[in-house]
Amino acid sequence: MTAQIIDGKAIAQSIRRTLSEKVQARKEAGQRVPGLAVILVGSDPASQVYVGSKRKACEEVGFISRSYDLPTSTTEVELLALIDECNNDPSIDGILVQLPLPAHIDDSKVIERIRPDKDVDGFHPYNVGRLAQRIPVLRSCTPMGIMTLIRSTGVDTYGLDAVVVGASNIVGRPMTLELLLAGCTTTTCHRFTKDLESKVRQADLLVVAVGKAEFIPGEWIKPGAIVIDVGINRLADGRLVGDVQYDVAAERASFITPVPGGVGPMTIASLLENTLYAAENYHD
Ligand code: GUN
Repeated sequence: MTAQIIDGKAIAQSIRRTLSEKVQARKEAGQRVPGLAVILVGSDPASQVYVGSKRKACEEVGFISRSYDLPTSTTEVELLALIDECNNDPSIDGILVQLPLPAHIDDSKVIERIRPDKDVDGFHPYNVGRLAQRIPVLRSCTPMGIMTLIRSTGVDTYGLDAVVVGASNIVGRPMTLELLLAGCTTTTCHRFTKDLESKVRQADLLVVAVGKAEFIPGEWIKPGAIVIDVGINRLADGRLVGDVQYDVAAERASFITPVPGGVGPMTIASLLENTLYAAENYHD
């Protein structure tokens, strides 16, 4: 079997087109344009690239983009004060603080300071808790985007054995909750998992988010499985590869996401969807 490629780039573009139309319709109806505040602390090169893409995408769909670039020396108190300011600003519907933060700032404290109705990253314990209780509102962007990709295949997820490799707060954990909500029997694997190979081999649906180049050998993929690769890793020769050995996996899977052009563009599309959701459901 040769897998069908799930074209995340095209699906994300289509979401962004729809969002642009909705923003246009709001303008024509005399409604406010949604606003997103994107906060970057420090000068991590990868974060600078991600934040740049988020701001550009935000402007392209017609949202107001508010940029805050703070030095690494910013104190936690200063960052919390900026979040309070954004929390109280009625022109801002969503607040995104790019992670990771410098080591002297407590991530959890920062995330919990963002008002849950402006938490368009879906990281606040309130929003993760809503998802865990099957009443999602603002959902974590990468897992939300992955669910859109899985739905695009037309495959019925109820009863599938789903395996998530990686248990981070940003991807693995909320991903497991999304798959549970979608009726899958879920297994979450992490650094203490025994016999990862046997877990991966039984996956009808596999999501890998570990950030290690070609960490999952293609031969481990169950024939006919759906494979979602969240990793983006640069090799010494400059090539970008995922966390799954793509060529071999693509010979076994029914559907697979490419790297790049699979999951990556969906994170931003979901962020924009969440920002409009927050404007329409909480702030209009
Ligand atoms: N760092 C890596 N991924 C993300 C994300 O989706 N949101 C934020 N805020 N930081 C990240």
